[in-house]
Amino acid sequence: MTLWIGLLLGLILLGAALYWLLIVTEGVFLGRRMVVWLYDITAHKYDGIKAFDDEAERFFVVRPLRHHLRHIPTPLILDVAAGTGRLSSYMLDEATFNGRIIGLDPARKMLNLAALKLAPYRHRAMLVQGTAVPLPFPDNSFHAVTCLESLEFFPSDQAALAEMTRVLKPGGVLMVTRRRGKDAKFFLNRSRSREQFESMLTDLGLVGVNTQPWQLDYDQVFGKKS
Ligand SMILES: C[S@@+](CC[C@H](N)C(=O)[O-])C[C@H]1O[C@@H](n2cnc3c(N)ncnc32)[C@H](O)[C@@H]1O
Repeated sequence: MTLWIGLLLGLILLGAALYWLLIVTEGVFLGRRMVVWLYDITAHKYDGIKAFDDEAERFFVVRPLRHHLRHIPTPLILDVAAGTGRLSSYMLDEATFNGRIIGLDPARKMLNLAALKLAPYRHRAMLVQGTAVPLPFPDNSFHAVTCLESLEFFPSDQAALAEMTRVLKPGGVLMVTRRRGKDAKFFLNRSRSREQFESMLTDLGLVGVNTQPWQLDYDQVFGKKS
């Protein structure tokens, strides 16, 4: 009897550990390759799970980016962890946006879906398979660098943000997200308070760093390269 209870408890603990490792934290404690593999095998479900709301995306993603880039006629944007092309498709769909976007992501199947979505904007969208560290671009290349809902899944958010800052042009804008909400604590020492996140960006040389509440699970954080 005691043996069966022990086995049952063991199974429950194992199930909870696997749920935490694979579902809640999406493989981040098992290494970069595991994160990318999980995105590859679930890519076909991604947009359905996220169910992006067009109006909210235009208001919270397109509008602030357009505002920061309003004085640049043809901005060049880098979207790190582009996924299925969320940011690129909403930006390029905006009639008043005349810029170009490079989307970078290591998960081939996420990029394949992005390519389908971005086909109508072929001449203004480019997709690159790669990771956030190192970014395969020269210093001071982009008017804006974005990274939505992804930093907590990278091996080091700080190293990735340093790379994003490096490739930003002076005066360029960074738009990223900080994980918050009830699940943030499951990321253990990878979770950062608003103050910690803002001071990390300031230490990287960004100015005017500010946080805007966005969704239950994410803040948006903006900064400019001085
Ligand atoms: C939650 S999705 C976000 C995708 C997109 N930014 C969005 O908002 O829909 C996280 C993305 O991060 C990508 N990713 C995971 N590890 C990465 C890394 N080390 N460098 C760059 N991207 C990575 C995944 O392949 C996945 O597409």
